[in-house]
Amino acid sequence: MALINENYLKLPGSYLFSEIARRVEAYKNANPEANIIRLGIGDVTKPLPEAVINGLHTAVDEMADEKTFKGYGPEQGYDFLLEKIVAFDFKTRGVDLATDEIFVSDGSKSDTANFQEIFSQNTKIAITDPVYPVYVDSNVMAGRSGTLGADGKWSDMVYIPCTAENAFVPQLPTEKVDLIYLCFPNNPTGTTITKTELKKWVDYAKANQAIILYDAAYEAYIQEEDVAHSIYEIDGAKEVAIEFRSFSKNAGFTGTRCSYVVVPKQVMGYTEAGDPIEINKLWNRRHCTKFNGVPYIIQKGAEAVYTEAGQAQIKALVEYYMTNAKMIREGVASTGIEVFGGVNAPYIWLKTPAGMDSWSFFDKLLTEVNIVGTPGVGFGPSGEGYFRLTAFGSKENTEEAIRRITTEFKL
Ligand code: MLT
Repeated sequence: MALINENYLKLPGSYLFSEIARRVEAYKNANPEANIIRLGIGDVTKPLPEAVINGLHTAVDEMADEKTFKGYGPEQGYDFLLEKIVAFDFKTRGVDLATDEIFVSDGSKSDTANFQEIFSQNTKIAITDPVYPVYVDSNVMAGRSGTLGADGKWSDMVYIPCTAENAFVPQLPTEKVDLIYLCFPNNPTGTTITKTELKKWVDYAKANQAIILYDAAYEAYIQEEDVAHSIYEIDGAKEVAIEFRSFSKNAGFTGTRCSYVVVPKQVMGYTEAGDPIEINKLWNRRHCTKFNGVPYIIQKGAEAVYTEAGQAQIKALVEYYMTNAKMIREGVASTGIEVFGGVNAPYIWLKTPAGMDSWSFFDKLLTEVNIVGTPGVGFGPSGEGYFRLTAFGSKENTEEAIRRITTEFKL
């Protein structure tokens, strides 16, 4: 008899963004005339930068020629890309990494979901709340969650609330945890923490032989000085942190798929007997067994991000979306609704008006002004009463959405 992994049965019906898509589709079917503006999922809308397109074209031609054709590549990524990552994303910020500490992959969603796999089932997980649901669901699948309570919390996970009350600054856990998921700039709240606050987490991890899984997918959106672009800017982080980076949000690769994970060789996990084991070696073993590498063509596209033209073009993309973020922040705030985030991130987190719950506000926006956002509670219990809008729409749609919202919720 093929027994299933029953942890899957514990998972709520569907993944958050699938549930939103289902509800929007049902509304659309019932109201085919509705001009729906989607500011829900954080998916980019501008095309790939010209430099990337050129890189992709050249690589396609190379694949057509026997002399330059490529079959299987190195699972960890081609040196031409690893070297650029090390030089541009880290060396420029005073961080020294070796190319064999970088693993190129197909997305931060899969990377952050998969990474837990190399840790013991007994690992105590801490997550900020609200949180990107992938960190939670992947640990539920792995059997580390316990049971889901009526309060929306898994019994074996440690929740670290990040709400307006604590200015979205996570406080260190009072019980000992082993694996800590942090994401800054934060998805979903769009907020950041200072380097001093981040240092507290690095110190905690060092003192507790814990590891931080640091999702920096939105680092390109940082505008303020005192916010770390990489956790390795913090002293000691190379001993305790794994960092996830993506080409999705800075260079428009959501449909093209390319990301990477940084696994410094100093980061150690431990056997039951207390022996230190290099996480880098375990991840390399896992990666080579389960992944055949990002396609050469895609890696050539990613490499082009680091050309002079590529750098200028991704800067312009980020500016485009950040102009939307400003428009959303200011527009929503002008109605008296409280807004957060959107300064160093493409997400705006707002407090639902009149104490409405997140899903009721979702329904109200969808049915009354035909705008799709993401209910805060979908990201965790502390997200109840909040709502997320993304700045990744087109300028025109964002303007129209703000016009509708300011009319609907006029002060
Ligand atoms: C989100 O909307 O939170 C993100 O787009 C999801 C993702 O990047 O996978």
